[in-house]
Amino acid sequence: MPAIAVIGAQWGDEGKGKVIDLLAEKAGVVVRFSGGDNAGHTVVNPYGEFRLHLVPCGIFYPQAVCIIGNGVVINPAVLIDEIDQLNQRGVDTTRLFISDRANLIMPYHILLDGLEEESRAGKALGTTRKGIGPAFADKAARLGIRTGDLLDKERLLERLRLTLDYKNIILTKVYEVSPLSLDEVYNQYCQYGERLAPHIRETTIMLEEALNRGELVLLEGAQGALLDPDFGTYPYTTSSSPLAGGGCLGTGLSPTRINRILGVFKAYCTRVGAGPMPTELKDETSDLIRERGHEYGTTTGRPRRCGWFDAVAARFSTRINGFTGAAITRIDVLDTLPRLKICVGYKLDGHTIDYFPGNVATLERCQPIYEELPGWQTPTSHIRQYEQLPPKARQYIARLEELTSCPVNLISIGKAREQTIHKMPIL
Ligand code: IMP
Repeated sequence: MPAIAVIGAQWGDEGKGKVIDLLAEKAGVVVRFSGGDNAGHTVVNPYGEFRLHLVPCGIFYPQAVCIIGNGVVINPAVLIDEIDQLNQRGVDTTRLFISDRANLIMPYHILLDGLEEESRAGKALGTTRKGIGPAFADKAARLGIRTGDLLDKERLLERLRLTLDYKNIILTKVYEVSPLSLDEVYNQYCQYGERLAPHIRETTIMLEEALNRGELVLLEGAQGALLDPDFGTYPYTTSSSPLAGGGCLGTGLSPTRINRILGVFKAYCTRVGAGPMPTELKDETSDLIRERGHEYGTTTGRPRRCGWFDAVAARFSTRINGFTGAAITRIDVLDTLPRLKICVGYKLDGHTIDYFPGNVATLERCQPIYEELPGWQTPTSHIRQYEQLPPKARQYIARLEELTSCPVNLISIGKAREQTIHKMPIL
């Protein structure tokens, strides 16, 4: 009966992979609902350390059926490679299913992502160049090719011919690069289709049936709320909705069936790619957080921008997602700091505001107003009980709860499954 959505509450990279891996122990189904292989979910478990880009993080549990929902854009080459790597490391992927409604990333999407970024010159968005934006643009333009099309070669050829003629005009006339060959792309995608066919199916029924059987369904978010194309720092956002609402659209699950929405917050903020981040630090504290937290992109390896926890952004994220609880990750990264800051408001053109502006030009003018708290300056990674955390760490967490009006369910103090403090049950 219960469905829990696990949502990135900031700019992505909050540690959703670990949280999903923990909760999936009891799940009947884990379903990814947005993004594509721009995401990189790190999981550390008895099989080893994994960086999953498309396969849901529940894949390590034999009882969990894993679904890549209709809201995900799929690069079949990346997915096949991920399946092969999991199999080589002893992980069974026969329970992996792919919605027949999911759009595919095609070679021209990847080419265009790079060409569009280069043409933006100094205004580049800093995308992952995985073809995500162009693939979602084609979905909206109804030019997309879907996984279901891979199962019907005639239809695939028909769809591909239509789209490729048009894409080749853009590639050759606008960007002056070589066109793509219809035969090559078609043959390649026919091979992908043959390989992925056993996994492709109508998946909304599977979710419905799992819930009717009383199983736990986990919705696995990708990226974070502040990268949402409507509510994030547009245009410095991704192209599909990482919000809880996106979880319904990206799976076919009705909003009335989602019982809990867990927001995953890092104990500080990071961002990768361009766009405003009011609490960004450019000093030795930022370097210290980056090194202690290994804050480098899982997908691109880019150094992440680091800064203090932004409670204004966090409150906004809590409101638009309707978080019923939170997981706070990477508390241990702050273990050595003598003082901590939390942004509690913004100074904008001489006034104080307590909301997250919708316009990036306005957000760029916002200066953070900080509240300071003492650091605990003692290791926390070995702690398993909330009461055993240093009082100053509990004070920090309590302040985050107060500022976001969101109760904390889980606290993560390291990569491993057991490095987790269960403060309050989610259900
Ligand atoms: P795209 O999703 O590749 O188009 O990139 C758009 C923006 O979203 C860029 O700033 C990326 O760095 C950011 N982004 C996309 N996926 C992730 C993610 O999984 N974690 C953090 N940032 C991401």
